[in-house]
Formats: sequence, C-alpha cells, structure tokens
Amino acid sequence: MKKYLVIGNPIEHSLSPKLHNYWLNKNKIDGHYDKKLLTEEKVGEFLKLNQKVYGINVTVPFKKNVLNYCTELTELASSSQSVNTIILSNDKIIGDNTDIYGFEQSLKDLNFNGFNKTAYILGAGGVVSSVVIGLNNLGVKNIVISNRTKNKAEALAKEYNLVVSDWGKIIDFDIIINCTSIGLKKDDSLGLDFPNVKDKIFYDIIYKPKTEFLVDAEKLGNKIVDGKMMFLYQAQKSFEIWHGIKPEINKEVINLLND
Ligand code: ATR
Repeated sequence: MKKYLVIGNPIEHSLSPKLHNYWLNKNKIDGHYDKKLLTEEKVGEFLKLNQKVYGINVTVPFKKNVLNYCTELTELASSSQSVNTIILSNDKIIGDNTDIYGFEQSLKDLNFNGFNKTAYILGAGGVVSSVVIGLNNLGVKNIVISNRTKNKAEALAKEYNLVVSDWGKIIDFDIIINCTSIGLKKDDSLGLDFPNVKDKIFYDIIYKPKTEFLVDAEKLGNKIVDGKMMFLYQAQKSFEIWHGIKPEINKEVINLLND
C-alpha cells in the first residue's frame, strides 16, 4: 500500500486526509493518506527519511520552508517559491505547486475575466505568490497588495510587480482577496470597513464557509467566494499528479467538507 500525507502545523483540522482517502477508495487505488504534525526543525529530516511515502501535501507554515529540501522544483513551484505538493521518487524530492491551479480554476468556474480588472490582495503570507500568479494567468494586470506589516507587501510587490497600499486603506477594486489568516478563528475580525462597495467579488482563501469578511460583503450586495473550491481543485491536481487519474469533484465530495 502506498502512503501519502499532509504535513503542517497545526494539522489536526486538515480535511485533506478525508478527501484523498475518499478518492483513493472511489478509484480503487491501494493507498492511504494520513496527516503529520511537524515542527520546522523536523521538516528536512522527515522528507529525507520517508522512503515509504510517495506523495506529500504541504500546508501552513511550511510551503516555503520545504523549498530548501526539494531536489527539483517544477516551474510553478519555482516561480511562486511555494510548494504544496511533493512527489517522492527514487531519492528525488520534487516540489510542485497546485495552489495556483486551484485558485485559477475556482475563478474560471465563475467565468471571471481579468481583462482591465483591478485585484486587491490583503495579506502577504505564503499563499499570496500563488494567488498573484493565478491572477496574472487570468489576465489581471493591475494588482494592489496591502499588509499590516508593510515591508512584507513591499517585498512581494518588487518580486511580482504589484502596487502597495497602506493597511486599512480601501482602494477601487473589482475583486478583493483575503489572504490573511483572519477568519480562521471564531470572532476574528479584519477590522476593515467597505462602505458603499457593492457588485464586486469578495474572495476569502479560508475554506470554511462565511467568514465575517464574506458575511459583511454579502450584506453590502457583493458576490462572495470562499476557499472551498480552491481547496478542492488543488487537491484534485495533486491527486492527478500522484496517481494519473483526475478524481471527480461532485456534490458528494463537496459535502465531505461540510460534515
Ligand atoms: P503563512 O504561513 O501563510 O505565510 P503568515 O505569514 O502567518 O502565514 O501570514 C498571515 C497573514 O495574515 C499575514 O499577512 C499577516 O500579516 P503580518 O504580515 O502583518 O503578520 C496577516 N495577519 C495575521 N493576523 C493579522 C491581524 N490581526 N491583522 C492583520 N493582518 C493579520
């Protein structure tokens, strides 16, 4: 039986095992997908010692850290400097990125066309480079980024040709994407106000439904998107990379995340 897993910290609430095991079962593949809590110091050792594991998903906060231990990077992993999928094969540790695909595909589902659109990114954490590349692929040329700690936004702006806006300032945008960790915990609040902003797209990378960011945006008359489809699509792509089969995303699969 081939082993797969997701590493992160925290990892307890990851839905990846449930999803991948469901697909393994549906596709009659002899494999099992588990989760593993790691500390930063243990990541390298863990990757090098795992000969029985064929594939690893990487989640917060190790998506950049694992770059140091990969023996090869795909073009997407290299351009985003972010790895969420690892293929282990014959002493090789190959880092790939399926977050870009996940983000892009979730917007394609909505027939989003980036031509002449302005995107406003909140946050400067590990997922932002994938979001930026996804937006570029969808034709968005004008991307503004804002982060509480401004120098992190400035570093990303330099790398990916973005414009920096002060934290708390609301610019004119077509789509706003919350890439901060605010909303993960109950009663979390970004503390931003969007008076008179309507008919825009509010996207939250967090996959639990209806963060306060989305609830408030919906009340104002905006279209809201949570991170569920991005999560499903990145997982679908990882599965396809490892097993050569594109697993189905249907109502039953979507419901797995809601139980
Ligand atoms: P990752 O592991 O994905 O890189 P991270 O670096 O912890 O995650 O990023 C979390 C993001 O949420 C950051 O942009 C962080 O802002 P800072 O760079 O200023 O820390 C943002 N964030 C977390 N708590 C926040 C808060 N209370 N208000 C505003 N932004 C916050």
